[in-house]
Amino acid sequence: MTHSFDEDYWDQIWTGERAVAMSTAEPNPHLIKEIGGLEPGTAIDAGCGAGAEAVWLATQGWTVTAADIAAPALAVAEERAVAAAVGGQVEWVQADLSIWEPNTRFDLVTTHYAHPAMPQLEFYDRIASWVAAHGTLLIVGHLHHHGTGDQPHEHERPHPPAEASATATAITARLDPATWELVTAEESQRTMAGPDGRPTTIADVVVRATRRP
Ligand SMILES: C[S@@+](CC[C@H](N)C(=O)[O-])C[C@H]1O[C@@H](n2cnc3c(N)ncnc32)[C@H](O)[C@@H]1O
Repeated sequence: MTHSFDEDYWDQIWTGERAVAMSTAEPNPHLIKEIGGLEPGTAIDAGCGAGAEAVWLATQGWTVTAADIAAPALAVAEERAVAAAVGGQVEWVQADLSIWEPNTRFDLVTTHYAHPAMPQLEFYDRIASWVAAHGTLLIVGHLHHHGTGDQPHEHERPHPPAEASATATAITARLDPATWELVTAEESQRTMAGPDGRPTTIADVVVRATRRP
């Protein structure tokens, strides 16, 4: 690893050249697919970035806590929530989630591509402990991806480094079946507009589980 995924790193990302594209991204399709049919309750989005997922959850009736280490990202996210008329349904928390602890448990704990300066699977362990009984854990993460090279116009963005990635097998191995009912464990690829507008293929891991009472 050539740098640490610390607050300075993320502040630079959120004030750098990728910030505009990241600030206008659509809500994650895995979130919509997995959570769209659930009864709304309380939710936390861990590493919410510019808030697309937090705002979407709020529009679906969830009461949302949205946490991120990067203040510039949260500033954009708050503006998006106000613009979507859900500003009152989202509490924004600027915190380092490798050490921060909520004082409550949530009906939904979700995270999308957050990779802090701690081992990725230990981060997932941490946020899994924030799920209330009967609640849902949804992890959407990066798979380490080398690209297929078989799409002539495909523009590969920098691969997520291995330490920021996890496989479905590695994530589910840490979810004790006595505590968790596994609902989804998938690895897939999808093509989306990259920061420069050109198609970019990314590889995702999606794990969804429900905490037993
Ligand atoms: C790749 S971005 C993804 C943002 C958003 N979830 C999305 O899908 O567009 C990862 C996010 O995790 C946040 N993050 C990284 N380390 C963190 C930490 N220790 N505590 C809280 N947030 C963190 C970053 O600031 C960044 O917004």
